[in-house]
Amino acid sequence: MGRNLIIPGGTRVIDATGKLVLPGGIDPHTHLELEMMGAKTADDFYTGTRAAVAGGTTTVIDFVLPQKGQSLIEAYNHWREKADSKVCCDYALHVGVTWWSPAVAKEMQQLCSEEYGVNSFKMFMAYKDTWMLDDYHLYIAMETCKQLGALPMVHAENGHIIARNTEKLLAAGKTDPEGHELSRDEEVEAEAVNRACVIANQANSPLYIVHMMSRSAVKALENARPRQKQPVYGETLAATVGTDGSHYRNACFRHAAGHVMSPPLRPDPDTPQAMLEALADDCVQLIGSDNCTFHEKDKAKGHGDFSKIPNGVNGVEDRMSILWQKGVNTGIMDPCRFVSVTSATAARVFNLWPRKGRVCVGADADLVVWDPRLQRTISAARHAHAVDFNIFEGQNVVGSPQYVVVNGRVCFDDGDLRVVEGFGKFVKTPVMSPYVYGGEAPKARTPEPHAPSPRLDLPTRVTNGTPT
Ligand code: URP
Ligand code: ZN
Ligand code: ZN
Ligand code: ZN
Repeated sequence: MGRNLIIPGGTRVIDATGKLVLPGGIDPHTHLELEMMGAKTADDFYTGTRAAVAGGTTTVIDFVLPQKGQSLIEAYNHWREKADSKVCCDYALHVGVTWWSPAVAKEMQQLCSEEYGVNSFKMFMAYKDTWMLDDYHLYIAMETCKQLGALPMVHAENGHIIARNTEKLLAAGKTDPEGHELSRDEEVEAEAVNRACVIANQANSPLYIVHMMSRSAVKALENARPRQKQPVYGETLAATVGTDGSHYRNACFRHAAGHVMSPPLRPDPDTPQAMLEALADDCVQLIGSDNCTFHEKDKAKGHGDFSKIPNGVNGVEDRMSILWQKGVNTGIMDPCRFVSVTSATAARVFNLWPRKGRVCVGADADLVVWDPRLQRTISAARHAHAVDFNIFEGQNVVGSPQYVVVNGRVCFDDGDLRVVEGFGKFVKTPVMSPYVYGGEAPKARTPEPHAPSPRLDLPTRVTNGTPT
């Protein structure tokens, strides 16, 4: 970027007249090549990032999810092995804290070092018996994040209530996919949002609530936020602004199961509009995809028992077009807010700013030439995903990328997808994001009577994410 640049002969010129030049999208929430509920996601790090690029996203942040008892470092190394040779665009990693011991605290500290480059950890209040942490360990995990200058992320749903409701529904013969939403209605999400805020406040920790899916959850966050001592960020999803829970009542199992995700889409038809307004009003700050796709054959594991349907839907490809269509074309948000919620805020929160999420001198050349007039119809028959289903099937969107530049290379070229497997790089996310922590050193942890985890040395490295 600049004025009066010397442009070498033979340089290709892309005319962006009448288009918008945006920073490449950052999807803060993907699950590529994940094994979950006895199935493996359809999209791996190649097809998933290929789909991302096709939709204007040039960085994804995926979740390392260790098994209970598994070393976090071992799981992280496994994710790097899966991803490094396959990614078509840059990626970073969050790490799940799915069990607790003092060894986990030590590994969190290691992961926050320059060597590993992690600054965010996800804790689950749901998925009892697999990933769920109880409140005591959630509290300690948040304290540990605070001490490390990392950001705790929370999946907010009450796992115990879901387990009991599931037993009751199945016993009553309610086995079809609609039972999934009935077992975990809005109240079950809102209660956990409030509880996560309370625990973060007790831990004096910032907080990031992933995949907020309901008006009740947004209301719980709005009620809690004035009380919070540290920043709380809310993330919603393309799925919840782009479709709704009426699909769970579809008589076709394939169709209904194809929409099963957690938290679920909501039957309240006002949800998409409310979530868009929450994004526009800054009650919710980011939009991700939670892309976690399963083929029809894997969703079929839950035929006759909704609790066995692997949870997850697509979104990494269509996230930006869906939000443009539902949010910008309707006048709910302007293009600047669109950039904020699709890239810039994620870059700031996860300390990638201004290398990512901004068009400026020194930033990575991750750019989208966005055509606000380009019209397309979303379909599994044409998408760049590997999966055989698309929750936005048949939707017309006006506004899509015309060109996507990944690190200086044109990888989506006026409709032609020209990605290169392994072209993307792992990007480290340094701790102490100035956006989250205000540039202050993390406060020393107040000693507690039960001293649940070892004291950790504070990280010492430079943390401003300077562009390279
Ligand atoms: O249904 C979902 N969201 N699947 C992925 C796992 C998670 O909870 O994010
Ligand atoms: Zn989750
Ligand atoms: Zn069908
Ligand atoms: Zn997720």
